[in-house]
Amino acid sequence: MPVNARIVGVGSYLPEQRLKNADLERMVDTSDEWIVTRTGIRERRLAAPDQATSHLGAIAARRALETSELEVEDIELLIVATSTPDMFFPSSACLIQDAIGLSCPAYDLNAACTGFIYALQSAVTAIESGRYQRVLVVGADTMTRHIDFTDRGTCVLFGDGAGAVVLEASDEPGVLGITLGSDGSGWEMLMVPAGGSAAPATVERIAEHQHQVKMSGNEVFKFAVRVIPRATKQALEASGLGLSDLDWLIPHQANQRIITAAAERLGMPEDRVFSHVAITGNTSAASIPLALDDLYTSGRLVPGDTLALVGFGAGLTWGAAVLRWSLARPDEED
Ligand SMILES: CC(C)(COP(=O)(O)OP(=O)(O)OC[C@H]1O[C@@H](n2cnc3c(N)ncnc32)[C@H](O)[C@@H]1OP(=O)(O)O)[C@@H](O)C(=O)NCCC(=O)NCCS
Repeated sequence: MPVNARIVGVGSYLPEQRLKNADLERMVDTSDEWIVTRTGIRERRLAAPDQATSHLGAIAARRALETSELEVEDIELLIVATSTPDMFFPSSACLIQDAIGLSCPAYDLNAACTGFIYALQSAVTAIESGRYQRVLVVGADTMTRHIDFTDRGTCVLFGDGAGAVVLEASDEPGVLGITLGSDGSGWEMLMVPAGGSAAPATVERIAEHQHQVKMSGNEVFKFAVRVIPRATKQALEASGLGLSDLDWLIPHQANQRIITAAAERLGMPEDRVFSHVAITGNTSAASIPLALDDLYTSGRLVPGDTLALVGFGAGLTWGAAVLRWSLARPDEED
């Protein structure tokens, strides 16, 4: 009997402080009307001054462990998807491990906004190999720490947050198929030019905002609308399923126009495509597990549902996973 990897716990965390479009109107030359019509975003969350990526991730991880009803000692591997770690090293995974009291191996993985799907693939492979039974996967980012709040083209888009899942080996179907992709020739479309080994931080570079996110918005938009349907179809094919088998599509929450255009191309009915980008903005690697947890806690995910998670981001990277859901609705748990 082949081993399957199944999600047995899910949790998330959004910091308290809200940054509304009206607040951004006071910071840059923009308007609530422009932001809502071009992106669908109304507000996003900001990590508190004493919160870094690992703090958000640790809260989401604890919540995922609670829903799984497993103990910290049951977890054998921790993978944290982030492109905004607390510091270059140690990894945010080690900091989360320390915060929640895990004693297993822990590492960070960076595939930008696609990080959670990449981490899911790593966790599934680890379980299917027979080496690990229970893996905790966290997606956490504090994008607002790397945003240029004088650049209206990027500062309206991003927010902070974290999401997590616990995966366990099972005889029952769980993650049915995953597809991943990258195209490094698109590296310049979305990046933070300075602060790394290519261009270490200097007073001049910081004054020029080179340590903050630079993006070719239009290019990324077109890439996203193309890649979401393609990756979703590939993951469905890898699962031996078709579009009509899907109960839910959970796309990376970057922009409502991207979500709507990609879902239309795919032919997925709007009421089966989850979006809460209006209240989160783009939380990068946290976006998909945050959306998954919101859908789960709202009681709309039913055991037996088939769902596709699909992400895209800097790199360029993309990925999709098809899952058979098995967690009971939160109000039905004993
Ligand atoms: C960034 C994005 C919202 C811009 O929307 P757009 O419809 O493509 O707008 P454009 O970039 O063509 O800009 C149109 C105009 O609006 C202006 N503009 C950009 N941001 C603005 C803002 N916040 N408020 C007001 N005007 C703005 C531009 O300066 C431009 O003005 P111009 O015509 O005078 O030069 C959109 O391209 C996008 O969402 N791209 C994908 C980004 C993304 O998801 N990144 C993360 C991937 S993981």
